[in-house]
Amino acid sequence: MLIAGLHSGHDCSFCILEDGVPVFHAELERYIREKQPLGDSLKFLFEEYPDFKKIKHFAHTTDIFQGGIEGRYPETFDKMQGVIKNNEGNFYEPGHHQAHAANVFFSSNFDDALIVTIDGGGPDYIPKDDKVIVSTITVWHGEGNKIYPLAYLTEDILNIGVMWNQCTTKIFGLSGGWPKGDQAGSVMAMGSMGNPEKYIEHFRKLKFKHPSLADMSYYQTFQFLIDEAKKVRNNNSTSLPPFKNVLKNMCIGLLRDL
Ligand SMILES: [Fe+2]
Repeated sequence: MLIAGLHSGHDCSFCILEDGVPVFHAELERYIREKQPLGDSLKFLFEEYPDFKKIKHFAHTTDIFQGGIEGRYPETFDKMQGVIKNNEGNFYEPGHHQAHAANVFFSSNFDDALIVTIDGGGPDYIPKDDKVIVSTITVWHGEGNKIYPLAYLTEDILNIGVMWNQCTTKIFGLSGGWPKGDQAGSVMAMGSMGNPEKYIEHFRKLKFKHPSLADMSYYQTFQFLIDEAKKVRNNNSTSLPPFKNVLKNMCIGLLRDL
């Protein structure tokens, strides 16, 4: 059975799984020589994967930008629906952070772990509330081949990814994405040699719903995120499962920007 995984945001790409094993993976940037392009991943798949008519299931992360992929690319979306109908398959939309969490947990060596994903914002569907929210930090419990959401934090609480992007582009004048690529890694490398006092007052003045993270250690920051996630979880009357008090392992998915 063939399953296609798709992404039409920055880093337009797709992959094909055959009976659960990745057999084909393509990123548009390797074809057009521009880094991190937006694009129609279905069109890309139809052009580059000759056996596309055999694909049974298609999956694309939750997408609400300009009407989602159905709104932005109606022709290729209809073409996909035709393939699905012929093969009696389905179209799935895993949440943005659900995909990040699955990626970081299933590529770890852990059978049981707390999972934290941090980025600049991505849409996740909350079934109980029947709505899509844009979250910047999420917390999950991974067990075996399952992941369970514990909390979704939104950007008014904290947005580390966009702050990282702003430092990369506004302070250092480096590239933050298309078409030359992301130099966030350069900022991370320079950070190890930089003067921590130079911009500390700026970061202390940032207005989020929490005490400044500027003075926290790495460990204290993650402890803060876990405590904040617990508060969000406890104040939320959704069907999210409770936190376990003790988990041995932690998987962290840290992504600059989106
Ligand atoms: Fe993301």
